[in-house]
Amino acid sequence: MTAKTKRVRKAVLPAAGLGTRFLPATKAQPKEMLPIVDKPLIQYVVEECVASGIENIIIVTGRGKNAIEDHFDSSPELERFLEERGKKEQAEQVRQISNMVHFSYTRQKEPLGLGHAVLTARELVGDEPFAVLLGDVIIPDRRPATQQLVEVYEATGIGAIAVEEVPREKTHLYGIADGEPAPQPPWGARLLRVRNLVEKPKPDEAPSNLGITGRYVLPPEVFDCLERTSPGSGGEIQLTDALRLLAQEIGLWAYIYEGTSYDAGDKLGFLKATVEMALKNPEFGEDFRAYLRLLKP
Ligand code: UTP
Repeated sequence: MTAKTKRVRKAVLPAAGLGTRFLPATKAQPKEMLPIVDKPLIQYVVEECVASGIENIIIVTGRGKNAIEDHFDSSPELERFLEERGKKEQAEQVRQISNMVHFSYTRQKEPLGLGHAVLTARELVGDEPFAVLLGDVIIPDRRPATQQLVEVYEATGIGAIAVEEVPREKTHLYGIADGEPAPQPPWGARLLRVRNLVEKPKPDEAPSNLGITGRYVLPPEVFDCLERTSPGSGGEIQLTDALRLLAQEIGLWAYIYEGTSYDAGDKLGFLKATVEMALKNPEFGEDFRAYLRLLKP
């Protein structure tokens, strides 16, 4: 493995997919704008970036995704309206959304896959390491998963992808990492050297039960790997295929991060995330818990 260390300042948030698993809700609105309690999914992801020390966020959008740019833009009329009615707290909340971090946007003309979406951000990322966070996966933990990966990258100079244990019978829903244990302080058994990555294997063909979770910190060399990746399943350029190349040529860690993820891009995952986040809400979490108890048979 060759190591090259630099601070991780940028993050790419691919948000140009069609969201077909969530139709019809996503017919005319971006999946990434669906709210979990009171915030759109992508705001949780942006907040994770900010909490991880990211300074520049590059969002990959496409047709029909303007609501994402509007959400993170300033909104002077709304702020004035709230202030004039004495709703200072809400006005401040709205203002903070656009002031959180520096945003840039680039458009993926056609949804040609997650790998292609990341490649679209090449010019904006430049020659430095960067994080990738899927716009529909939330990991609402106090110690952000992205920060954990940034720490691994900045200490070793080798890219890292977040993995978590998934049920054996569900490996066909995930990219699965085949990793060789590479324990070292302070990460211990959480750190594995990636030998191979397999996209959605059947349970009896899966090399492990470590599913790829939707958080990555990658060196800029991954762009060359993406350039050399031909379209795979569904005619899409898969990020997993490029990461396999990266693992072979430069090296890559799989890191069993601490935390819980929700794939809110499908209906059941979205409902689970909504219930868990509502239960944690300081304002009405207890009332909501009491309400759910009433529903029990
Ligand atoms: P998904 O596969 O979950 O998103 O990609 P999708 O294609 O929109 O969803 P379904 O399967 O049709 O329901 C993970 C993330 O990558 C983005 C998506 O917007 C999502 O946030 N993505 C995916 C792109 O930006 N471009 C693509 O071509 C594909």
